[in-house]
Amino acid sequence: MTRLAALAPRSDFPLLAAQPRMHYLDSAATSQKPRAVLDAVRGFYETANANPHRGAYALSAAATDAYHDARATVARFLGAADADCLIFTRGTTESMNLVASSWGRANVHAGDEIVVTALEHHANFVPWQQLAKASGATLRIVELTAQQTIDLDALRDAVTARTKVVAITHVSNAVGAITPADEVVRIVRAQSSAIIVLDGAQAVPHLPVSFDTLGVDFFAFSGHKMLGPMGIGGLIGRRALLEAMPPFQFGGDMIEWVNDFDSTWNVLPHKFEAGTPNAADAVGLAAAVRYLDALDMAQVRAHEIALLELADARLRTMSGVTVYGPPSAQRSGVISFSVEGVHPHDLATIFDQHGVCIRAGHHCAQPLMRRLGVTSTARASFYVYSDASDVDALCHALEAAQTMFATVA
Ligand code: ALA
Repeated sequence: MTRLAALAPRSDFPLLAAQPRMHYLDSAATSQKPRAVLDAVRGFYETANANPHRGAYALSAAATDAYHDARATVARFLGAADADCLIFTRGTTESMNLVASSWGRANVHAGDEIVVTALEHHANFVPWQQLAKASGATLRIVELTAQQTIDLDALRDAVTARTKVVAITHVSNAVGAITPADEVVRIVRAQSSAIIVLDGAQAVPHLPVSFDTLGVDFFAFSGHKMLGPMGIGGLIGRRALLEAMPPFQFGGDMIEWVNDFDSTWNVLPHKFEAGTPNAADAVGLAAAVRYLDALDMAQVRAHEIALLELADARLRTMSGVTVYGPPSAQRSGVISFSVEGVHPHDLATIFDQHGVCIRAGHHCAQPLMRRLGVTSTARASFYVYSDASDVDALCHALEAAQTMFATVA
């Protein structure tokens, strides 16, 4: 039988190429970067570095064009026909804060309701929790099924005519559960006029995504989880909503006119991009998008399912191991697990001694951990450069940890 090979060659990733024995299984936290992305960032600084939108000279025009082209490339990849509705942010966390702060403070009031789920990353939980506290709105938390997917019946019960916002994850970072976004949209639209905010941080790197097809109102994502640089990501929103919203931050670039005692605002997307933009990392993100496009997102998804099935089948037969989340077909390339008698942090330390990088902790998902009845789990996550040898190393390190703790006990 042929062994499952990586979808993208390890040699494309300088860090992995330099550390051939490392098994990097923490891509849900951040992905490794291909040379094409590193070259693009460096190339911007070496050939086009000037402040976009600010100079009449050719170099500033080149920087402006590079930034503009990056937006068009990323918007096309995410199926957003109106590229000016893609706001570059530092990542999903900033995108969620932007919506909760700008749209939320203008539209959510005492007596209204905000719906989130118990599956959310803190970035799509705390901004809404705090908006509820500040506005006097009620926060409703949708509970989960036994396999840590969002309980759609509970969602149906939670959404009412009073609901103003439904903020929901597309893919859980902690257990990999994929939300059926089309079902969510159908339920919410049938029962309310609420806006739907989708956290796409763990979806965009792993699944084909089209904003215009999803039919949600806002969609947030992070570049660093999809082979791009840290510090760049985005928010895509419906034009009518974005145009009606007040700015999130004030300063240069986002104004149209500044009078002594009031100001008017620039058009989209600039209204939401105060200050010097992160043009170099936007260019790097566009290079990441081109790299993923060449791999083909349907292939990326198929590759991750194959890895998950391989790992799941082996882990589930090991005694004392609990694997969380739904079956592979409803899960991204994440395997979250506990081992009887071994704390997840000890597991991660022992795994490291075997060259296996995993994350241990609450994964910024404490509401979910409470419902699982644990304070933390161990989490391995796959990506395009993962292969069967990573699954072998994962299982081998787990056996070693069990042996060590059995001996100690
Ligand atoms: N949100 C990142 C994770 O899931 C940091 O690990």
